[in-house]
Amino acid sequence: MHFGFIKNVASKDSRIVAGLDVGSSKVCALVGEVPLSGRRGNEKANAGINIIGLGTSQSKGIKKGVVINIEQTVESIREAVEKAGEMASVDIRTVNIGVTGGHISCIPSHGVIAVKEKEIGMKEVDMAIEAAKAVAIPFDREILHVVPSEFIVNGQGGITDPRGMVGVRLEVKVNIITGAASSIQNLIKCCQKAGLEVTDVVFQPLAAADAVLTHDEKDLGVALVDIGGGTTDIAVFQEGQMSHFSVLAVGGGNFTNDVAIGLRLPFQEAEQLKKEYGCTMLSLINTGEEMKIGHAGGKTGKDMPRTHLVEILQPRAEELFKLIKEEITGKGYHRLINSGVVLTGGAVLMEGMDIMAENVLELPVRTGHPAGVTGIQDIGSPAYAAGIGLALREADAFAEEERANGESLIHGIKSKVSGWFRS
Ligand SMILES: Nc1ncnc2c1ncn2[C@@H]1O[C@H](COP(=O)(O)OP(=O)(O)OP(=O)(O)O)[C@@H](O)[C@H]1O
Ligand SMILES: [Mg+2]
Repeated sequence: MHFGFIKNVASKDSRIVAGLDVGSSKVCALVGEVPLSGRRGNEKANAGINIIGLGTSQSKGIKKGVVINIEQTVESIREAVEKAGEMASVDIRTVNIGVTGGHISCIPSHGVIAVKEKEIGMKEVDMAIEAAKAVAIPFDREILHVVPSEFIVNGQGGITDPRGMVGVRLEVKVNIITGAASSIQNLIKCCQKAGLEVTDVVFQPLAAADAVLTHDEKDLGVALVDIGGGTTDIAVFQEGQMSHFSVLAVGGGNFTNDVAIGLRLPFQEAEQLKKEYGCTMLSLINTGEEMKIGHAGGKTGKDMPRTHLVEILQPRAEELFKLIKEEITGKGYHRLINSGVVLTGGAVLMEGMDIMAENVLELPVRTGHPAGVTGIQDIGSPAYAAGIGLALREADAFAEEERANGESLIHGIKSKVSGWFRS
């Protein structure tokens, strides 16, 4: 595999990795430095990554996870990548990219093989997963990931790693995550036009999970809720693996729209006001608090009570978390998530989001700050979770190459669809 980074300061002990999160509001490129070995086996999945470059640009040309304008998307990607490259003093040529949106879906499948060897090894596991992939995937869809949920050896289920076991029949239950081929190919095309080679395409919640969830949370059961600009992704993890997900077509952009309409402001001004003074609960602000409004473009603005803004944001937040609750509790997933809910995405930066989430969802909630990541200030923001996760996955791919027989089976099972990347 070719990794085309040119680093000013050559280092024998570390590698450079990059992630590109092309969201509906921002494009975010992250460059990380990882030690050559010893990254795995740590309790914190992301221990050992030093973020040395961050570049963001306003996302133009992407709506609800799908490219709607190639040229604008290329421009946004180029800007973010250049900024991150400059900060890190590297020339970014290859990236891992994240995808999300309503076009992603999940097909459960099942594979069985007869074991001829004395014991089950990686080869048998690969064969069982290959067998599970042999389902009819519509021609207009691409497989992004094959996530094994359970192995069954000679009828004995509940096995997470069958290697080293004895048996004649190996079964695997998997979730095949697919996306619309056109959406994925358009995103890859945009990256290629921006001069980048794409090493892998990752479903964003899986990347965000790598950055913010602990192994314990994933084992005990947890729901990761990423509230971005255009979409809210809900991914449920149990026994270490993602078992369910859904994508709601609502995000922080809807809050801004409400503010723009309610206070009769242009979208950009409403966005600014929301970021500066936004809060989702009237009970958290002091009556009499004022905010400055209408100062954009050198105009003389005026003061307005902050309650006017919060009165608009609170019902929208309630509505959003009710929708999330319908997905989680309505489908019975609340019984699977003993560790509760972890929030990521830029929209959770608004004051009161976590409290509102806890009130409505009636589950324990925490905000998912990428932990154990060093480097740039503010890198622990939940808005960077997906980008950091993408860089971490690239680092994992390196580690995988380093030790072909890594100790973690699940990380070893990668479904890289390298064929997509050749134009
Ligand atoms: N400080 C803040 N307060 C309130 N909202 C914020 C703040 N910072 C960012 N946001 C909101 O977060 C949203 C963007 O989140 P994020 O950067 O995670 O989106 P994205 O990844 O580009 O979008 P998506 O994941 O939907 O494709 C926007 O609606 C933005 O207004
Ligand atoms: Mg996002």
